[in-house]
Amino acid sequence: MSGYKIVFSDYYYPNLDAELKEFEKLGEPVEIIDCTKIVPGGIFNPEELIPYVKDCDALVVQFSKITAQVIQSMEKCKIIARYAIGVDNIDLDAAREKGIMVANVPDYCIDEVANTAIAHIMNAMRKITVSRDMLLSGTFDMNAVRPMKRMKNAVLGLLGFGNIARDVAKKMKDFFAEIVVYDPYFQDVNSHPEVKFMTLEEVLKKADVLSVHVPLSPSTQDMLSYEQFAVIKEGAVVVNTARGGLICEDALIQALDSGRVSYAGLDVICTEDFENSKLLRHPKAALTPHVAWCSEEALAELQKKVGINVVSALIKGEPVYRVK
Ligand SMILES: NC(=O)c1ccc[n+]([C@@H]2O[C@H](COP(=O)([O-])OP(=O)(O)OC[C@H]3O[C@@H](n4cnc5c(N)ncnc54)[C@H](O)[C@@H]3O)[C@@H](O)[C@H]2O)c1
Repeated sequence: MSGYKIVFSDYYYPNLDAELKEFEKLGEPVEIIDCTKIVPGGIFNPEELIPYVKDCDALVVQFSKITAQVIQSMEKCKIIARYAIGVDNIDLDAAREKGIMVANVPDYCIDEVANTAIAHIMNAMRKITVSRDMLLSGTFDMNAVRPMKRMKNAVLGLLGFGNIARDVAKKMKDFFAEIVVYDPYFQDVNSHPEVKFMTLEEVLKKADVLSVHVPLSPSTQDMLSYEQFAVIKEGAVVVNTARGGLICEDALIQALDSGRVSYAGLDVICTEDFENSKLLRHPKAALTPHVAWCSEEALAELQKKVGINVVSALIKGEPVYRVK
């Protein structure tokens, strides 16, 4: 039978109109398996997903873990397309071995995530939520918001210098005295005189604010842990809008409790179970529930570009945004 079978494992968008409009360009009948219609929210258990993806031509995924077991079960899938920049929920080695392309959307929310990182930085440096919590508790005590450092005397440290971190640097260069960066893979260092490239240890020791923008992978898991918090500048602020797994949460909590880290602004946490996180009600942390990417424009762009990735992979044999 001609035509394509496209499976959506999970998503939390109101509808798939944008994707389906792109699929019209395939010019052949398309069978859609929408797993959110089978299990509310979608299918997250790899074993449950296998019967649906076994004979699919394309798999579209948001949060579901696409394990080696799922990938090995796919008989003719050409493309796994993720609704995101990060692809840490997909076993990339297994996909490569099986000859299945993986695609992301690297440019749909750069402005939004950079601005959320900046909002967390501003919140921590100007003690906005700390002040609000103090008012809500019915007390006023200047000591509760001190010490505050003047931002233009402070150093901003960026871990990773990809699209989002570069946007943060561009927007923040007039706010801080200096911006220092750790990204051993970034090539074009001479085009960025507004920042100084350093080793991780140098950045940790120098930065008053550390903002994390590194992809999560086995090699970056727990990139900030006990060892790093032991050398981080006393009283530093830590902001993470990348992935929770980059920071060992127990080590961060210990650093917050000891005062080594003065505040944490986190849009992502390891478990993504925000409601039950020990950090949710921590007086020195502000959590946002992985919404850094969100704007109406970003959402529309994400859904359309996922559709474009699938169509391009199925017709031309290459998605627009292929993850290498
Ligand atoms: N919170 C959200 O809503 C949200 C939305 C989009 C993206 N993200 C996360 O933000 C991350 C960064 O996005 P981006 O668009 O800037 O990605 P990017 O791919 O443009 O940049 C990543 C940078 O990290 C660097 N890097 C890789 N490994 C490193 C390491 N071990 N140490 C230091 N640097 C390293 C790379 O060289 C690259 O320059 C994504 O991987 C994603 O996980 C979160």
